[in-house]
Amino acid sequence: MVPPPTENVGGEGKTEDAGGAAGGQVTPGGSLGLALPRMTVLATCQSPDGPPNLITLSWHSPISRRPPLYGMSIDFSRASHDMLEALGEWVINFMDCKDVKSVHYCGTHSGRKVDKWEETGLTPEPSGVVAPPRVREAYAALECRLFHSVPLGDHTWFTGEVVAAWRREGAFTDGILAPSARPLFYLGKNTYDTSGEEREAF
Ligand SMILES: Cc1cc2nc3c(=O)[nH]c(=O)nc-3n(C[C@H](O)[C@H](O)[C@H](O)COP(=O)(O)O)c2cc1C
Repeated sequence: MVPPPTENVGGEGKTEDAGGAAGGQVTPGGSLGLALPRMTVLATCQSPDGPPNLITLSWHSPISRRPPLYGMSIDFSRASHDMLEALGEWVINFMDCKDVKSVHYCGTHSGRKVDKWEETGLTPEPSGVVAPPRVREAYAALECRLFHSVPLGDHTWFTGEVVAAWRREGAFTDGILAPSARPLFYLGKNTYDTSGEEREAF
């Protein structure tokens, strides 16, 4: 288990949990917490004339190989939502568990109030194609340009076409995630895990 960040989750980023420890039926409103753990990443985005921002995401997914599409679900209330609508470019940054405190900070503070780069010490690295920078500390990154977006419930699903991608040396071996890369898995509230020491290959 990754040591939990010292700061507890505030209103932002809070997951509606399924309530207590009892088994049995769960209300639909609390049900999405049953889909934990979720691999958790940082997206970088910006408005056309503003500084780049960071947002923590656990609702994201690969969608298509040809063209390469990657999607993410963003709550209407996020500062990042407005930036994504305005510019339509972003980067998905796959972070190691050593950066759990930074990831948690970016998921519990809004770019409307703080400069998350300054507060976390994460390093903006110029992207190859899109305007928002990638995160230098990430073990892999996908530069995305808007392909399609659709409001669904209280979120917008942004689908991006991957226009450039990066990986840290040694992070993958022959298409397999190497033990040196330690992705973050969100378990709920302020608790995270990473990939285990034991591996099974067939
Ligand atoms: C582990 C974790 C996962 C999160 N996943 C999402 C997500 O998938 N979509 C989303 O809209 N917000 C998600 N959030 C909440 C945002 O990261 C949070 O509200 C953030 O402060 C928004 O920043 P912004 O206002 O600068 O855009 C998550 C928060 C945490 C802690």
